[in-house]
Amino acid sequence: MKLFRPAGKQPLWKDEFSINRADEQYVSRRQFTKFLVLTSLGMFAGNVWILARSWFSKGTLVYPEKNICRATDVPVGGVWLFRYPTEKDACILIRTDEESFVAYSQKCTHLSCAVYYARERNRLECPCHEGYFSIKDGSVLQGPPPRPLPRVVLERREDQIVAVGMTVLQET
Ligand code: FES
Repeated sequence: MKLFRPAGKQPLWKDEFSINRADEQYVSRRQFTKFLVLTSLGMFAGNVWILARSWFSKGTLVYPEKNICRATDVPVGGVWLFRYPTEKDACILIRTDEESFVAYSQKCTHLSCAVYYARERNRLECPCHEGYFSIKDGSVLQGPPPRPLPRVVLERREDQIVAVGMTVLQET
């Protein structure tokens, strides 16, 4: 079986669309500089976006509303797990008394383990490195977490509990 064509017997299309392989793979200094500049600009824009996002995320972020549960679904001291604002964002809602509900992101601000509600100590606890968060405002009570838990802004509409945004406690 022949693997190579003799030099003089190249297909017709190669004569008509001749491409010099060495030229095709050659990258000029100008092209390389252009690539570096564009890559650097892309990285710069990404960093500006991250900075702006972290800056604005210290206030309340409004997201599309989502029905979480009915008030009667959760007994006093009970929890309800849900996802907000996207299906990737696990959250935990706690009914603190007959009329009060609070909800936080379930992702620990240290290394993202899932926090849970420790009813007997009335706080949110992270099992990974014993990080504890206040049930009142999500602030750090103890441990390595560097920031409070993002809080889900809730509204009660008759029996319906609705999530309307996220907020982060301002650190002083
Ligand atoms: S991941 Fe929560 S304390 Fe470390």
